[in-house]
Amino acid sequence: MSVFPPPAPALTWRTIGGILDFYVFLGPDPGSVVEQYVDVIGRPAMPIYWALGYHLCRWGYNSSDSTWEVVKSLRNYGIPHDTQWNDIDYMDQFKDFTFDPTNFDSLPDLVRDLHAHNQTYVIMLDPAISSTQPKGSYWPFDEGLKRGVFMKDAEGKPLIGKVWPGQTAFPDFSDEVTHEWWFDNLRKFHEKVPFDGLWIDMNEPSNFVDGSMNGCPTNSLENPPYTPGVLGGFLRSKTVCASVQQKQSTHYNLHSLYGLMEAKASASALKRILSKRPFVISRSSFPSQGLYSGHWLGDNRSQWKDLYTSITGILTFNLFGIPLVGADICGFSEEPQEELCVRWTQLGAFYPFTRNHNTVGMKPQDPTAFSPLAREAMKQALLLRYSLFPFLYTLFHHAHLHGHTVARPLMFEFPGDVKTYGIDKQFLWGRSLLVTPVLEPGVDFVGGYFPPGLWFDYFTVRLDINKMKKSFNSVDILFFHLRGILFAAPNLTLWISSGQPLHLVSALSDDGSASGDLFWDDGESLDTYETNQYTYIVFSVSQVLTMTSQVLHSSQEASFLSVDSTSFYGVPEKPSRVLVNTREVPFTYRDNQVKMRFMLQVH
Ligand code: GLC
Repeated sequence: MSVFPPPAPALTWRTIGGILDFYVFLGPDPGSVVEQYVDVIGRPAMPIYWALGYHLCRWGYNSSDSTWEVVKSLRNYGIPHDTQWNDIDYMDQFKDFTFDPTNFDSLPDLVRDLHAHNQTYVIMLDPAISSTQPKGSYWPFDEGLKRGVFMKDAEGKPLIGKVWPGQTAFPDFSDEVTHEWWFDNLRKFHEKVPFDGLWIDMNEPSNFVDGSMNGCPTNSLENPPYTPGVLGGFLRSKTVCASVQQKQSTHYNLHSLYGLMEAKASASALKRILSKRPFVISRSSFPSQGLYSGHWLGDNRSQWKDLYTSITGILTFNLFGIPLVGADICGFSEEPQEELCVRWTQLGAFYPFTRNHNTVGMKPQDPTAFSPLAREAMKQALLLRYSLFPFLYTLFHHAHLHGHTVARPLMFEFPGDVKTYGIDKQFLWGRSLLVTPVLEPGVDFVGGYFPPGLWFDYFTVRLDINKMKKSFNSVDILFFHLRGILFAAPNLTLWISSGQPLHLVSALSDDGSASGDLFWDDGESLDTYETNQYTYIVFSVSQVLTMTSQVLHSSQEASFLSVDSTSFYGVPEKPSRVLVNTREVPFTYRDNQVKMRFMLQVH
């Protein structure tokens, strides 16, 4: 089926039949439409806390030692780094569930070292399984054959295509038996390399030949009366034959569900192996994907236009109920100039999922590969992200609970302001943070729009009401404005794992009020909200400049919170005194900002 948006305010569905179910979500505002949609397809899973940290990856780390060198180098420069990844390089001849005994012999030690530094490790997996290994030498294929997990051709034999390891069979994830086999493979491999998460790629499913090594039969599924505008012009182009029989139906009917079903099998296997929230990032996606995985936007290029269009991609997947989404920071193919990589890291620090990834054969593009000035700018952007973790984590809680977007278009918060409708160069985190990234080379100003209300520059606390242009002259500048209340925890590690005290920031609106909230739990246990193992507090500042907090839920497991300082932005006059729970405390007053240190603990 194809859907066309003609110039008129209408959509045309072109289909050759089938049953079409239409849902109409009435809103009335855009955020409510997304909530109603996500209510139907399923709300996204709450991510494990380190999913929101900085992830570093590339294709072409040629050994575990060279991967380890980069990990050490980031540590050396104090650059936040929660998760290291490996692409297909770690595998023995690109075979899933193996690792190269020569170049990656130290991989288990690298993973142990990451764990010893509270870091995590993610491996790539492609669905296609090598089918040409000597019998008895490759358990995943031998066992898969025995259990009948592979998709079958017209003669009932496994359909054979071609992917990285050469000839391959494709698991049928519409069959529960396949899920069990996938779990067994992961469990066995985890005993050798104790990975923490999975990167599932090539799961459209992607195939280097059209259909199979033997082509496809001639029938109505392979040659339907109408073929949508797919790459290559045929349904079988660069994937498996449409008429292949899977457990639940033909591949013709199930094709678009392949990545969803693989993500479901992968998330469930990880839960069983680790007893924690599963971390899975998938290239292919379908409605409901957010229940099982996040998504990266696929192979982009190290170009300024790809930096710019990534914003639309991130916002779109938030509308789809897959808020854990990011683009390859600094670009996948080609080599970024230093300035582009800095700007991309600054924007990427505000992707809900933040990963730098690079293709094989290109120069390194991790932060340590650049000049001290660029490296420092990238480090500061990542530290800023880490400091905002309590706020970001709370946004993910609302995505999980209500189907809210995490990164959202300005029009979601200002549906009455038509000027926000076409904005694709700025976006919000929740309702409070406005991000205005630099998207062009060599510029010394950035244009942006400030929707109605007071927006405070996060760093200078300057009020930037409706000022369209900001000047700057250095790569370390990042534009970022606040309204409402949020928590910050500046540190190299994510707040949940550190227990460090928080800084509370309140940006007052023009009537002097502000509100915000905080959700926290242990960051990794399954279903903490559903089993009441979390704490949730709302904060508000009233017009007479009184802040109150209300603990709406608290639990033993997530009860300790300490705040050691707070700032109020937008206080027009210096107060004569400041009281915390009736006790007078010292404070400073500068540029409309009241700042004070005190210890507040919630048990
Ligand atoms: C695909 C992926 C890319 C990966 C490469 C090698 O192109 O999209 O991210 O690096 O395969 O595995």
